[in-house]
Amino acid sequence: MVGLPARGKTYISQKVCRYLTWLSIKTKVFNVGNYRRKLHGANMPHTFFDPHNCIGEQHRREAAAAAMEDMIRWFNEEQGVVAIYDATNSTIARRKWLHESLSKQDIKVLFIESICQDESLIIANIKEVKLSSPDYANVDPEDAAIDFRARIDHYKEQYETITEENYTYIKLINVGSQTIINMIQVYLESRIVYYLMNLHIAPRKIYFSRHGESQFNVQGKIGGDSFLSPRGELYAAKLPGLISDNLGGKPLTVWTSTMNRTIQTAAGLPYPKMQWKALDELDSGLCDGMTYEEIEQKYPEDYANRDEDKFNYRYRGGESYRDVVLRLEPIIMELERHENILIVGHQAILRCIYAYFMNYDQDDLPYLKIPLHTVIEFTPKAYGCEEKRYKGKSNKIY
Ligand code: SIN
Repeated sequence: MVGLPARGKTYISQKVCRYLTWLSIKTKVFNVGNYRRKLHGANMPHTFFDPHNCIGEQHRREAAAAAMEDMIRWFNEEQGVVAIYDATNSTIARRKWLHESLSKQDIKVLFIESICQDESLIIANIKEVKLSSPDYANVDPEDAAIDFRARIDHYKEQYETITEENYTYIKLINVGSQTIINMIQVYLESRIVYYLMNLHIAPRKIYFSRHGESQFNVQGKIGGDSFLSPRGELYAAKLPGLISDNLGGKPLTVWTSTMNRTIQTAAGLPYPKMQWKALDELDSGLCDGMTYEEIEQKYPEDYANRDEDKFNYRYRGGESYRDVVLRLEPIIMELERHENILIVGHQAILRCIYAYFMNYDQDDLPYLKIPLHTVIEFTPKAYGCEEKRYKGKSNKIY
């Protein structure tokens, strides 16, 4: 990462880490501020960051070196694939040190610079994130804000935006309004760049609902393309009220799969709708239309294998959760780009999307609870998402 303090570097680091981890790419964030606090204590005044303070400068270099050492160890000993070095790296000299140290280890470097010229975004970041940082524990918020601004000024004194033409980099200006890229060469870099280009921080809500109970649900059968049961139809009739009560008149787009049960559930919603094949339920192949008891009898080995490793188990002629995550990648990109969205979907699909937003690992993902007749509301925040659930019976939060 590159950028002045309060430019959303840690937010971007966490988002990229979550996205790549969700795609099963081993990723870890190394935050130099955490190393600095561990080595030299929290509650350092702004003078610690003054470039003319030789001791502060030396301590900050030590923290940077400790994070670098751990990061290289992680690559070599734990087979890490992408490390995110979350620090200001705001001078040409610091970036040269990073680039040379990592190139020596055959590690490719992509610099992500976050530039923010919008003063209101900076103030929001200081308020929402920085003042709750361990650096300002037990400090009066007004004093903390004054100190943090002084810290930013110290960094500004030396800040050099990336101009190094021989480096691979992306500059994000005002989170999503403009991007500049240089020397993007390999596939993984281009995935990260595309992901970053889709990010925005406008306030919004994301809603998920499973389709109403289907005729196959009633019969205990998996897969198929059945219509709703009478109970499912009741939920579909309630859904418009459940959403409008909580949306407060803001615009919304509804996404469904191409299957009858999601289309029928969304039919009464008075918002623009879009059907996505990528949102169709996990394909259970030869087991489609069977009950779990029938599967256990007919394919006992498969049944046991599924229990053993549910994320990787692939139905004969069908899909695994791992396959579904890959086919959902474009959905995640679109979700990041859009504002208010309601997805009326299927259990396995919503488990995968839920795991992305809530940072669940792949062992837990296939067991996440996404109940029928419940709307899940996500409000993305600086770090992670706030969640509320609304039951079909009433719109009480539980
Ligand atoms: C920090 O110590 O909080 C960050 C160090 C840096 O990247 O300048």
